[in-house]
Amino acid sequence: MKDMTYKNCIIGVVGAGAMGAGIAQVAVQNGIATIIYDAGDGAAVAAKANIAQRLSRLVEKGKLAEVDREAAEARLNVACSIEELAPCSVVIEAIIENLDAKASVFGALEQIVAADTILATNTSSLPIGAIAARLAHKSRVAGMHFFNPVPLMRLVEVIPGPDTTSAVTSQLVALAEKMGRTPVEVTDTPGFLVNFGGRAYPTEALAILQEKVAQPAQVDAVMRDCFGFRMGPFELMDLTGIDVNYPVSEFVHHAMFADPRFRSTSRHKYMLDTGQLGRKTGRGFFSYGEEAQTQSPDAVSSADSSPAVFVPEGHIAARELMRECGANVLDHDDGTAPILVTLIGEDCSAFAARTGTDAKRLVALDPLGDTSARVTLMTPPGAILEVLNGCIARIAPKRAVTVIGDSPGFIGQRIMAMVCNLGCEMAQMGLASPEGIDVAMRLGLNYPKGPLEMTDGLKGEIVYEILSKMQFLTGDDRYRPSQWLRRRAQLGLSASAV
Ligand SMILES: NC(=O)c1ccc[n+]([C@@H]2O[C@H](COP(=O)([O-])OP(=O)(O)OC[C@H]3O[C@@H](n4cnc5c(N)ncnc54)[C@H](O)[C@@H]3O)[C@@H](O)[C@H]2O)c1
Repeated sequence: MKDMTYKNCIIGVVGAGAMGAGIAQVAVQNGIATIIYDAGDGAAVAAKANIAQRLSRLVEKGKLAEVDREAAEARLNVACSIEELAPCSVVIEAIIENLDAKASVFGALEQIVAADTILATNTSSLPIGAIAARLAHKSRVAGMHFFNPVPLMRLVEVIPGPDTTSAVTSQLVALAEKMGRTPVEVTDTPGFLVNFGGRAYPTEALAILQEKVAQPAQVDAVMRDCFGFRMGPFELMDLTGIDVNYPVSEFVHHAMFADPRFRSTSRHKYMLDTGQLGRKTGRGFFSYGEEAQTQSPDAVSSADSSPAVFVPEGHIAARELMRECGANVLDHDDGTAPILVTLIGEDCSAFAARTGTDAKRLVALDPLGDTSARVTLMTPPGAILEVLNGCIARIAPKRAVTVIGDSPGFIGQRIMAMVCNLGCEMAQMGLASPEGIDVAMRLGLNYPKGPLEMTDGLKGEIVYEILSKMQFLTGDDRYRPSQWLRRRAQLGLSASAV
């Protein structure tokens, strides 16, 4: 087996589209001689010109020295026929997502390259084992899954198939590192790690929308302000495009035999069917351009702020917030004041029924996440509107207020619990090491933390409590806790404990 760090190593890239060109660019920028080939007329030449342009822009921005640009460009060669890939130590395929097409390219390569040349595929959804199964030498085939745009995305999932040797896997890990990427070894499962683990964030947001608990702008604001996500789930779906994220959701849900954890909603499909694809069509969950909304999703109230609020014992965050907002916090219910509680995994209705609290005066606050800039409030059906308005008027001078419909887990608890739970399930399935899961999800999806780190941050027992209560209250197995999470929560261990 050839040493990927050896200076004469040449790699081949088949397919000079968005991904192939990006892969070739990071290879040559990191000192690796690269030959790029595409079956489309002039496509590889055009890719080389695009890469040259991108490198020049980096020089203009002061991010690349002129001498390094010249050297990088000199390392990139265009092949006119696939036979010219004969000297390559590794060939990375990045052609259209079609099993027959990929198998046929690899079949041709088997006749051309040396016996120890590694054949890697950048497929995003085809099983590596299914591609290898069509080939004579299966042990040298593996997945090398880059993310778009390649020059900006550091993560590479390295995916061995059933016959891939450990030497091939380690060579690809070394190659990814040499290309300036962060490789994570991942099991050959539908969507691999990131496209699989990335389902929880958007689909739970879609469930919240489907139930009319909150609107997209409210959900996004909570996830940004209280949980540190750079983008809310709806703006993210609009950016990636509904024509991209709906098929991925459907593919993973189908591949997991309709496991309700992966279920999307009819609204998601409706967006696709009606061409509301997001930014690219000017309208998705939000409107763009001249039609862009400017109205704030935050609650306002012109009512008089409630002078006094009853906070039952143990609801510490509610007590502290109301004190900070200058309310007289009562220790006993006077029969008229709003009753403010903090809830975990429960909605107002269930809390009122369980405790005998007067539901008409009940307002619940989500204590999870960072509540220093924004708080989420909800009330049960039949609640007195003036009570809620009095609370909003009291809190709004100090915090942005998101008011939602009654829902176990509000917005933040629901989405966070689902993200954490799927992270735990990936650990249970052994998709990667706990550390690898966190690294991949951070780098692949720009999450502020990996899902296992998030679980520890919120506390495993709290995440377990949210999910257990949600499963009980909704009767929906979508919320069933991962056994990985349950065990660690019950034993008081970190979610990363093996
Ligand atoms: N675009 C993404 O966000 C993304 C991310 C990760 C992985 N992927 C995967 O990477 C692969 C490529 O995706 P892309 O977005 O770059 O596609 P693309 O359509 O931009 O490029 C594909 C290129 O492959 C060429 N091609 C098609 N058949 C060929 C053949 N038989 N031989 C040689 N060249 C051939 C086409 O001419 C085209 O230039 C796919 O498998 C895709 O699933 C894409």
